[in-house]
Amino acid sequence: MTNVLTIENLSVSFPSATGEQKAVRGVSLTLAAGEVLALVGESGCGKSVLCKSIMKLLPEAARIRSGRILAGDLDITNYSSRQMEALRGRYFSMVFQDPLGALDPSFAVGAQIAEAVRVHAPHMKRSEARRRALELMEQVGIERAEERYLLAPHELSGGMRQRCVIAIAIAQQPRVIFADEPTTALDVTVQAQIMDLFARLREETGTAIVLVSHDMGVVAGLADRVAVMCAGEIVESGTAEKIYYAPRHRYTRELMQALPKLGRRPAASSGPQTEGGTRHE
Ligand SMILES: Nc1ncnc2c1ncn2[C@@H]1O[C@H](COP(=O)(O)OP(=O)(O)OP(=O)(O)O)[C@@H](O)[C@H]1O
Ligand SMILES: [Mg+2]
Repeated sequence: MTNVLTIENLSVSFPSATGEQKAVRGVSLTLAAGEVLALVGESGCGKSVLCKSIMKLLPEAARIRSGRILAGDLDITNYSSRQMEALRGRYFSMVFQDPLGALDPSFAVGAQIAEAVRVHAPHMKRSEARRRALELMEQVGIERAEERYLLAPHELSGGMRQRCVIAIAIAQQPRVIFADEPTTALDVTVQAQIMDLFARLREETGTAIVLVSHDMGVVAGLADRVAVMCAGEIVESGTAEKIYYAPRHRYTRELMQALPKLGRRPAASSGPQTEGGTRHE
């Protein structure tokens, strides 16, 4: 079966005073339907630029220097942001780190989810879009959805906001979701809940997920495969088990050594299972 995403030898650079800064260097990867791929690596290694170059969300200055990007069989390497509109939401969706930034502060979250439902169906009745939005809210684990439908983003906890953003991302049943550090702004208990939600969505909807993180510990449990990025390149990839238990590359081992810090965090069971909001560090 065709992969939902294929990247061949992709290089992306930014102009800089000292010549070109190569943010992504010769990256190749594939994503099968329903697969969860974790993209891990330290800050600045090119994870977001890679995702944005697929989604056509790169700043103007960025240049794709080589390579191909295929959505199924469709070559979208040179798609403009405008051409991408047809695929955004329906084929590819993105969940960003900061749920507050992703939501409009002046509208009720329910209306924003309903809007996402109607994007490609402008003739859909408002009542139908509302019904579907409530369904989506329940699907992403928002209890008392009718009540919360009417709340503004700032009236919800960080975890609930991220659930709303995920509801928007899945409104059009995309084939691929890019989740770029979707839990870094959340406390550890809520992080685990959001990871569980992604796992459940993959089971229920068959969507593939690219899970971006600098923290191997957060993503290892959910990922079928892990790709480790370092300075713009994928230096190692394989099943989560292989990377976890037998990391080959020195850089991967260093990333793994950063893991014991997990032990300093409170265990998920030690605190109340609430969605307490943003982290305080
Ligand atoms: N708009 C831009 N202009 C110039 N350089 C950029 C721009 N955006 C990113 N870069 C460069 O591209 C490289 C990769 O950045 P990217 O944002 O993809 O890192 P990242 O892996 O997502 O890091 P983080 O974990 O901090 O989110 C960095 O070295 C960065 O300086
Ligand atoms: Mg990033």
